[in-house]
Amino acid sequence: MNSYFVLKTMPYGIRNTLSVMTATLWTLKFLIHRQKGDSAPNFQEFTLEIDPNEYVLDAVERVWAFDDRSLTFRHACHHSVCGACGMRVNGVEKLSCITRLRDITTNGSVVKIEPLRNFPVISDLVVDMGSLYARMETVGAKQILTLAQAPLTEDVYPSKNGGEFSRLSDCIECGLCISACPVAATDPDYLGPAPLAAAQQNGLAENPKTVLQLVDSEEGVWRCHSAYECTAVCPSNVQPAWRIMDLRKKVVGQRIKSFFGK
Ligand code: SF4
Ligand code: FES
Repeated sequence: MNSYFVLKTMPYGIRNTLSVMTATLWTLKFLIHRQKGDSAPNFQEFTLEIDPNEYVLDAVERVWAFDDRSLTFRHACHHSVCGACGMRVNGVEKLSCITRLRDITTNGSVVKIEPLRNFPVISDLVVDMGSLYARMETVGAKQILTLAQAPLTEDVYPSKNGGEFSRLSDCIECGLCISACPVAATDPDYLGPAPLAAAQQNGLAENPKTVLQLVDSEEGVWRCHSAYECTAVCPSNVQPAWRIMDLRKKVVGQRIKSFFGK
């Protein structure tokens, strides 16, 4: 029996303790956004000795477990599927459960953790994403894709050079794109990258004329400034910016068809 197998079969608590004991720990200072109710927002500082191979969400959980049980944050799956753990880490939108500390900072540094922008803050790192969910319904986003509906492309395989697997282009409604979008920051009525991407990905297949009319508006595809920040932060390979540009082409096509009475 090799040592890896022995480690894998140990109870989680013992395995975790052993891995912490054998890792070279980093000292990191975490500045975490705190805000309850109507109180003014502030940053609270926590210093942790932590394995840099752990993830930002692990650090937040550790602060909650050992320092302050009133810290509020959302998480569920811990593997980039549920979309619950979005945060701004050192000013960049990330899924905290897949953001490894050693990839975003260095030993002795400060890690600043904030809630997503462009949504109302409910408590600490938790924001109200109701507006996103409502807009996803408006454009006809599918709640669940069956395997047969999933766009199985060669993307699901490792590259020929042995690169990493990439995700299917399923939106996990994490809100990172809305937080990163400069237009959403100034115009709360803008439909936003994820809903527009959903309109292009699913809405058109279901109800093309209605969806094209919906997005052909001041707060729809024409409001986008093509900053491509949404695509840069999207953890799911949805490529919202590309889909918005594609929707524009389809909107123009529909206008031409309407002109000829089709
Ligand atoms: S488009 Fe990407 S970043 Fe935006 S909500 Fe969906 S998965 Fe998240
Ligand atoms: S905890 Fe589910 S995506 Fe991060």
